[in-house]
Amino acid sequence: MPPSIIPFNKPHLTGKEAHYMYDAVYHGQLAGNGKYTKLCHKYFESIYGLQKCLLTTSCTDALEMAALLLDIKDGDEVIMPSFTFVSTANAFVLRGAKIVFVDSKSDHPGIDETSIEDLITKAIVVVHYAGDACNMDIIMDIAKRHKLFVVEDAAQAIDNYYTNSEGHQVPLGSIGHISTYSFHETKNIISGEGGMLSLNKENFINRAEIIWEKGTNRSAFFRGEVNKYGWVDIGSSFLPSEIIAAFLYAQLEALKQIQARRLVLWNKYHSTLKYWASSNNIIRPNTPAYSTNNAHMYYLVFSKAGHRAKLIKHLKENKILSVFHYQSLHKSSFYHHLHDGRELPNSDRYSECLLRLPLFFDLTDSEQDRILDTILSVELDG
Ligand SMILES: Cc1ncc(COP(=O)(O)O)c(C=O)c1O
Repeated sequence: MPPSIIPFNKPHLTGKEAHYMYDAVYHGQLAGNGKYTKLCHKYFESIYGLQKCLLTTSCTDALEMAALLLDIKDGDEVIMPSFTFVSTANAFVLRGAKIVFVDSKSDHPGIDETSIEDLITKAIVVVHYAGDACNMDIIMDIAKRHKLFVVEDAAQAIDNYYTNSEGHQVPLGSIGHISTYSFHETKNIISGEGGMLSLNKENFINRAEIIWEKGTNRSAFFRGEVNKYGWVDIGSSFLPSEIIAAFLYAQLEALKQIQARRLVLWNKYHSTLKYWASSNNIIRPNTPAYSTNNAHMYYLVFSKAGHRAKLIKHLKENKILSVFHYQSLHKSSFYHHLHDGRELPNSDRYSECLLRLPLFFDLTDSEQDRILDTILSVELDG
């Protein structure tokens, strides 16, 4: 029998999703902020000690809420890496912000913290690339000295931790003023589309609930804090339905098991590819010492774009799908003419030379062996 296709990603079902979704339907509350939304909020707030969480329909929506909460206005400058997903920038551009793109580090696709100081603006958005923490001590210190807000785009960083300069391990997403997560089907924990906002400063909480509920004080009304609800601020419909929350809750119950399997797969890639990578001048993921590894992604950085193309082709010929990642936003057709012209060579290098390998809960050991054998048999210079 010919080998079957190994996809880049395959959404994992724990088996309880349909049951909880049916339960939500059966109990007759399908709109947002019901039993399952509250269970998910409680999970995140109790397991990770996050002060206040709000499920959203995507991380993109959570980022848009962050831009609204920070009162980003026409011409406000916002710093972020160029090597990121379009939503990181788009959420702020929608409010009229001017994006100041920053390069990645030479040894990691995450934001180069040392190049921020000269570019002080209104807010810094960091992206914990591959789930790996940025150096949040440096970021928070710059933010404090220049009175800036920090948004952590933790789309990929669920269940991952940062060890701060005092030696305390804290969850990613709990450090900046506001954080955003994604539960898109490519993430470790999924709900199809889905996301979450975490508010780490008391003074954002009330307004966030209002923005979340179409600009109304509906949440306060349901808590009995006001006797009628109405339009009190700008907002939109950022909350997901109970069906999505029910799906997500099933995933959360299996989080430990999902993370453990992903880590086994990640470690096998890392150890098996060690010598092959170094002899071909390929860089394997470089998790910083201050970050734990949530095994969100296994990636390789080639020294030549041609080598990446050869491996993608070789894997594809063997029915294995691998994919590259972000394209530098400062060079995008939409934004390049607004970029200030600074070269961001590391961002460009990751755009041209980074490749992601299949990594998902249901990838079997024999499938991973097939991927590894195929990689080890590639002729990069032939
Ligand atoms: C860094 C980053 N931010 C935001 C997003 C958007 O997430 P979502 O698809 O949940 O809107 C993504 C998507 O993968 C991402 O990689």
